[in-house]
Amino acid sequence: MCGIVGYVGTKSATPILLEGLRRLEYRGYDSAGIAVLSGAGELQVKKATGKLHNLRTAVGTIEPEGSVGIGHTRWATHGRPSDDNAHPHTDCHGDITVVHNGIIENYAELRDELQAKGHTFRSETDTEILAHLLEDLLPTTASLAEAARLALQRVTGSYAIAVVSRAHPGHIVGARLNGPLIIGLGDGENFLASDIPAILKHTRSIIILEEGEVADVTPTSVTLTDLNGAAIARAPIQVDWDAEAAEKGGYPHFFVKEIHEQPQALRRALLGRVVERPDGLALRLEALDKLAATGALDKMRRAVLLGCGTSIHAALLAKYAMERWARLPVEVSIASEYRYADPIVGPDTLCIAVTQSGETADTLAATRLAREMGAPVVAVTNVVGSAITRVADAVLYLQAGPEISVTATKTFVTMTTVLYLAGLWLGRHSGQLVEVEERQMLAALQTLPGQMERVLETMTAAEGPDGAIGRVAARLAGCHSCMFIGRGPGFPLALEGALKLKEISYVHAEAYPAGELKHGPIALLDPTVPLIADATTGHTYEKVISNIQEVRARDAHVIAIATEGDGGIQRHADEVFYVPAAPEILAPILAIVPLQLISYHVALARGCNVDQPRNLAKSVTVE
Ligand code: F6R
Repeated sequence: MCGIVGYVGTKSATPILLEGLRRLEYRGYDSAGIAVLSGAGELQVKKATGKLHNLRTAVGTIEPEGSVGIGHTRWATHGRPSDDNAHPHTDCHGDITVVHNGIIENYAELRDELQAKGHTFRSETDTEILAHLLEDLLPTTASLAEAARLALQRVTGSYAIAVVSRAHPGHIVGARLNGPLIIGLGDGENFLASDIPAILKHTRSIIILEEGEVADVTPTSVTLTDLNGAAIARAPIQVDWDAEAAEKGGYPHFFVKEIHEQPQALRRALLGRVVERPDGLALRLEALDKLAATGALDKMRRAVLLGCGTSIHAALLAKYAMERWARLPVEVSIASEYRYADPIVGPDTLCIAVTQSGETADTLAATRLAREMGAPVVAVTNVVGSAITRVADAVLYLQAGPEISVTATKTFVTMTTVLYLAGLWLGRHSGQLVEVEERQMLAALQTLPGQMERVLETMTAAEGPDGAIGRVAARLAGCHSCMFIGRGPGFPLALEGALKLKEISYVHAEAYPAGELKHGPIALLDPTVPLIADATTGHTYEKVISNIQEVRARDAHVIAIATEGDGGIQRHADEVFYVPAAPEILAPILAIVPLQLISYHVALARGCNVDQPRNLAKSVTVE
């Protein structure tokens, strides 16, 4: 939610900032802006409402000159998307400029105070108060960093900020509290950004700022302190992400590129965790071994899985797996509900926070609450060093590589896989899972990437107007609503399929457990409302077929996802997409692929912006 980038060095800042913003646009695209300080001390600010190309147009061919600058791409919270509300924001005289990700909760009272002192505000944003606070503090402080520390001591809320001042050329000050901010180290130049892909092209040497830290960044130095000015030493980490991973690689959209990356992402998620031993396959999750060795799991009687959106769908799948393998009662709770629900949680509850970005505000707050009440916490996340990793006692990384598309795909399948591995580990830990079943499951997990490659090949062959995807996409593109059903693990799959369709094609979709249809929602069905059913092989297969029959009796058009070799399904469905046979619990990891691709083709048919759906941002860092 909002992206920040900064550059201080010897090169021209504008192209570096614009390129960084391009890679951060997934964080918000209501407006964008840059501020560049020239060698002559001129501070130029350019901003534009809407997508980044509007800012490029506003910048034009005469780019602001200078080798120090900051940029921002916005997902609006305080104040509608407009040029005035776009960041960077400046003080009364245009000497200080600030970009901000987060929410300053006490901005109204600070604004009243600053207005009473004569400051003039130009925007409706909470961020602008920071520029004016700095304007007030700077004349009496020794450095921009000190002024920033004093200003931040006065604000409550969440922030990641970057500040440039005409009085301190050659410096950018950054700070964070509940918003991500990293520093990239270059040779005679340094970078700031909300996320690694923004600066991956320039450096892989990264310092991750921790909560409540302030960084004074010059071309040749980075000085870290806490909010009171106490010095902090931190060595950089080396990021091994492939720069290509943040490019579209010949695909028209990140969404479809990341769908096709899923087999490789699965391989990476399994790497080093499912290992060949002389006596067969073995599971290795050192993070959980270490956690158990501390005794933190000795009292464990239950687990709670917390997350939002797609992550909660992966958690729902994991519930089936963990309850079966570990006989451990598992509660799955939407983080934004959990935190206000007075939950029953304590040292006997293992809390598993499930979050791709590791910075979703609701998931962070719910997890912190569980931790405060004594629960040991395991984080399942994709982003190294993200905020959730600091709340957790143990971290399991997805190892999926960067996911740029706002809508999650490869992180759904890797998240589900990593949670299943945790389920197997819990099964062994509790003594409930027999070794044979563990080995069978590990072997089945290892075959998933190859099986998924086959699904992708079959689906690619079904593209084009005469192919099955083309036909289904044409039908769904013209309908006002559609229904997804599944049973058991097929239900979270249905939820995820419906979410993809809603998010990128704006077609209304509902997901139901198949047996629940007849208790009400079946009233919605008629020939204009297609039904997409998970009919992969499983212990409730016959029941799903009966539910499909009930729907066909109401003349609804049925699209089924089925297991290869199931010729009988053709009698019950108008269109069928096949996936290879897999254990019932693993089938959704394959079956989601046709659903993702159907959503993609519906979105294309409706002319939607696939990578940047309206109203969305990839990381939701506000409540
Ligand atoms: C769906 C999607 C969102 C996220 C949700 C949680 O495609 O991307 O629903 O899953 O905002 O995000 P994380 O996993 O980063 O906490």
